[in-house]
Order: sequence, then structure tokens, then C-alpha cells
Amino acid sequence: MKRTHSCGDLRSEHLGETITLAGWVASTRDHGGLIFVDVRDRAGVVQVVFDPAAAPEAHTAAKRLRAEFVVAVTGQVTPRPPASINPNLPTGEVEVRAAELEVLNPAETPPFEVEDSVRADENLRLRYRYLDLRTPRMLRNLQVRHRMAQATREFLDREGFIEIETPLLMRSTPEGARDYLVPARTRPGSFYALPQSPQLLKQLLMVGGIERYYQLARCLRDEDLRADRQPEFTQIDIEMSFVEEDDVLDLSEQLTQHIYRSVGVEVPAPFTRLTYREAMDRYGSDKPDARFELCLVDLNSVFDKTEFRAFRQVLAGGGVVRGLRVPEGHSLSRREIDGLEASAKQAGAKGLAWFQVLPDELKSPIAKFLSQEEQTALREATRAQPGDLLLVAADKFPLACEVLGRLRLDFGRRLGLIDRSKWCGLRITEFPLLTYNEEEKRVEPMHHPFTSPRIEDLQLLGAEPLRVRAQAYDLVLNGAEIASGSIRIHRRDLQEKVLAAIEMPREEADRRFGFLLEAFQYGAPPHGGIAFGFDRMVAMACGEESIRDVIAFPKTAAAVDPLTGAPAEVTQDLLDELHIAIKLPPKRQRGDEPSA
Ligand code: AMO
Ligand code: AMP
Repeated sequence: MKRTHSCGDLRSEHLGETITLAGWVASTRDHGGLIFVDVRDRAGVVQVVFDPAAAPEAHTAAKRLRAEFVVAVTGQVTPRPPASINPNLPTGEVEVRAAELEVLNPAETPPFEVEDSVRADENLRLRYRYLDLRTPRMLRNLQVRHRMAQATREFLDREGFIEIETPLLMRSTPEGARDYLVPARTRPGSFYALPQSPQLLKQLLMVGGIERYYQLARCLRDEDLRADRQPEFTQIDIEMSFVEEDDVLDLSEQLTQHIYRSVGVEVPAPFTRLTYREAMDRYGSDKPDARFELCLVDLNSVFDKTEFRAFRQVLAGGGVVRGLRVPEGHSLSRREIDGLEASAKQAGAKGLAWFQVLPDELKSPIAKFLSQEEQTALREATRAQPGDLLLVAADKFPLACEVLGRLRLDFGRRLGLIDRSKWCGLRITEFPLLTYNEEEKRVEPMHHPFTSPRIEDLQLLGAEPLRVRAQAYDLVLNGAEIASGSIRIHRRDLQEKVLAAIEMPREEADRRFGFLLEAFQYGAPPHGGIAFGFDRMVAMACGEESIRDVIAFPKTAAAVDPLTGAPAEVTQDLLDELHIAIKLPPKRQRGDEPSA
């Protein structure tokens, strides 16, 4: 029995035809006489009817069908009786009257109902991913992903980019996460690093005269995982020669539009341009969700003469005071407010002050420390209305903004301020070149060490390195960072100044990426690029919260694949061949599986 049609494709135009289907049993309903079986293939589901009077053999065989059996059915396409037409099903006007049934393969009872896998535990779904993939949702997600990948290639090909694969076995790239290592058999004691991104290689391609490169590149990073992070993920990786910031960003914006258009989403352009400083100031985030306009307020001038010690000290130390008005926030209980303050402190803030706005006073434990003028100015600056709640943070600039930015997002969601039908793209530019790592007490690159400073800020590099802005940029879509890139340093003298600013000794630089510094001596063109987080873009197009739902075989939050059991132990022989001896932490013994 050879398949002639797909289940999901049958329509009224096929009425009367005798056809053969192949697929999986989605459900069976035995009505005593007639047996109804929904058969599913990639194209969809159709109802097959087994009638004991018309085809007794097939009917008897159909009694044994269970969910997920693989079957082939031959029969005639007939109209459904008017009462049983299903308008919600594309094939809902027809059914197939079975003449013959062949069981191609029986199936065990699945650990969860395929049609209802959304409700199954995610670990179980991943353990039996091949069953999960049979759901319309996963199939659609993978189809959307495919379409977006095709659109990427189509656009970049048209724009003169060459797709080039770069190696997976290479040296460590300085993207800031932990490397995955691969032992080198031919050089005992040496390791390849799996690329955190093709960053150095794409720069070498520019030195190699490629001018316009792209790749749908797999990146591997051993980092703490969240819903939007995976240990291996895909970037649309791009590098261009003889360009400036706006050239890369204009192209990236068009690419974003083209990709989303291919799956029926119109992302409005031009994207709003914000500097890093403006984004932090207004939204308290370098990846703001600008679909709603609840903005932070600068309260420095309100409190510039304050007697309230906490604020005065922060301002004297060069910090800032910022506020957020929560509309109708009076409904929050004291416990909820304390919860906000606790979470702000957990994020590293010194505190979170709050004020309930009453018609003619501000109610707050710290109101007594504020003068009447300050209270009036605070009301005016925040445009507070009776019934609102005001939240105020005094801290170093990024921290004060971030703390309120997170609350802004929480309240935006809670108060239903976010218009989910909107697509809002932003270009964020003028990121700082360097940041201060509080833990390690040192200055480090915000992006990576090859990012070029803005030329006008170069003179600050020695004395005030943290004020130097970079030629670095992000694209943000609906509050998610979808792409990040920069104009690179292409001259050795500038590269050395930046390495000096991050106090990376020459020897270390030579050891880690001396090959790139060397290449720069042989005629490196000015160049820059960007990389898109492709999984995130797809997840957003599919309306999925987690990028795991748009990856065929993702890992759990513990970086485990429950289906294949990776990572797993290997035999002693293999280890011996690699000259590797295992030294386990005291508590764990070889044979203990890490839990998922
Ligand atoms: P960056 O590290 O910012 O830049 O990465 C670029 C984009 O990749 C996505 N992304 C991730 N997606 C899923 N899981 C992860 N673990 C993960 N990490 C990052 C984000 C991010 O914006 N080489 C530079 C780019 C350049 O300068 O050209 C780079 O990799 O969407
Ligand atoms: P304290 O004087 O530390 O007990 O703080 C009194 C109130 O002011 C508490 O609600 C603190 O959370 C708040 N507060 C203290 N420091 C800050 C700060 N830097 N920014 C915002 N609120 C603060």
C-alpha cells in the first residue's frame, strides 16, 4: 500500500477518489458499529471510518488500533454527514471510508498523550522528544524556524554575502562564558575549545579579503542556563569590511524585517534609536521593552539638598536618585512592598524607598526625613496621582536604573500595559567600552576586547576608562536582545591601548589571540559586524517563552539531554587513549548521574 495523499491535505475536491494514506493513529473511538480513527501525518489529521458492513476485515483489524500505531489505509473520500462537519479542522468536511488497513508498526502506550504534550512535564517531553515533535505545535515551530533560516540566506545572498563555515574545533574565544573543551588525542594534555562564537575567525575572514561573510553558526557556551539561553545555540553571524556603525545597523534592521516578514510578521522600521545612556535612563534596561511608556524619572535635582542621609550620601558619591511611578499602586499590600524592597536588595541595591500617594500627603516611613518642598517636587517630577505608588532608588547609575527597570517590567506585565500585538524594535548604541567587575576588582570589556572605542572618546582611555564609549550596538525586539555587534579595532596600536586599559599583559594577549594580532599587521581592513540570536528570534515569532521550544533537541537547565543521556561517562580505554585521568570532587562518585 503506497501513500497517494497526505492526511491533512484532503478536501472536498477529493470526494469520490480512492486514496491511500499513511500516518499515526491520533485517536480511536469505537461506537460499537462504526469505528472512527483520526490518522495524523505531517500535513494534519483526517477522520477514517471503519464500517463492519462495508469492510469487515479492516473493521476487525481497526479494533486493535491504539494511539501512535503507524498505519496505512486505503479507502474512498466521502462527505461527512452535515451534523458531523467539523469547521475547526481543515479536513473537517470529509472523511475516508476505509476499505483496507495495514498496521505498519504497532506502538507502546506513549508516556504522555501526544496531542496534549503541552501539559506533560518538560523533562518527560524531552526524554521522548520524538513523540513531542509529532505535535502540531512543535512541527509548526520547526517549520517557522526553517522558513526564517531560508529568508536569512535569501536576503544575505542577495546583499552579496558569502556563507562560510568556520571550524568547531578551535582555540578559546573571549566571549566571556566558560569554554567547552575537547581533548586532543594527538597532543596529550592539549584541548580544543568549542567556539563561543566565530568572532576571531570572522575577523580573520575580513583580513582574508572576504568583505561580506555570514554563517548560521552554532555557538557553544558553558554558562548558567535560563529560558532564553542554551549551551549550544545558533547565531546569524555577520561581518563586513569598509563599513561604519550605521551600515551594519541599517542592514541588520532590513534583515530583521525580511526574516519576520517571511513568517507573516511586520516589524515596523525604522527602529527607534537610543543610546545606552538614554535606554538606561528612561527604561532602566539596555534591552528595554518599549511597547509601553512607563518611564523612570530623574530625581537628582529633587534631592540635591536633601537631609535624608541615604540619598545624600549616594548623591555625594556621584550616584543618582531615580523614581518610578506605579499607577494605581496603592492596592499593593505592605507585604508586597516589602517584597519589592527585598528583591531590590538582592539585586545589590542599597534599598528601595516607597511612597503611597494620598490626595494631600505622601505616606512613607521616610516621609518624615523629607521637607515639604521635597515632597512637592517629588510629586511633580513623577506626575504622581492620588492612588499611585512611588518607588525610589538611590545608587550608582546603572544599579539604580536596573533595579527600577526590573520593577517597571514587572508592573508593565502585572498592570497589563504591554500591547502584545505590537512589535517594537530598537537600536541601542554608544555602549560603554569597559565595565568594572566588582567581584574581580578590575576593568573588563563590556562586549569583547576587539570592540573599537569611539574615536572622540579615545583621550579618556588612560584617565577615565569607564567613560569611554564603544562603537558597539544591540538590536532589541520587544524587550529581548536579538543581536549584538560592534565596529572592531583593526590596528595593532589601538588594540594595544585597549589591552593595556583592561590590564591584559601582552603575553596573555599573545597566548590567547596572538594569531589575530599578527594578522592585523598584514593589512587588516576596517571592519565590523553583528550576531543575531536566531533561536530567540524564532521563539518570538512562534510566541514561545522558551527557546527550548524552537530547538529540535535542546538541553535542560542542567545542560542535560534526557533523551540520549548526554553528558555520559566514557570507557576507560577511551580515557587512556586521551591520557586523561578523572579526578572527581569528593562527594560524587563515578557512576552518579547528574540529575536533570
Ligand atoms: P553575543 O555574545 O552578544 O555576541 O551574542 C549575540 C547574540 O546571541 C544570542 N545569545 C544566545 N542565545 C541563546 N543562548 C545563549 N546562551 C546565547 N548567548 C547569546 C543573543 C545575543 O544578542 N561575537 C559576538 C557578536 C559580534 O560582535 O559580532 C557575539 O557572540 O541574542
Ligand atoms: P534605613 O535608613 O537604611 O533604615 O532606610 C530607610 C528606608 O530608606 C528603607 O525603606 C530603605 O529601603 C530606604 N533606603 C535606604 N537607602 C536607600 C537607597 N540608597 N535608595 C532607596 N531607598 C533607600
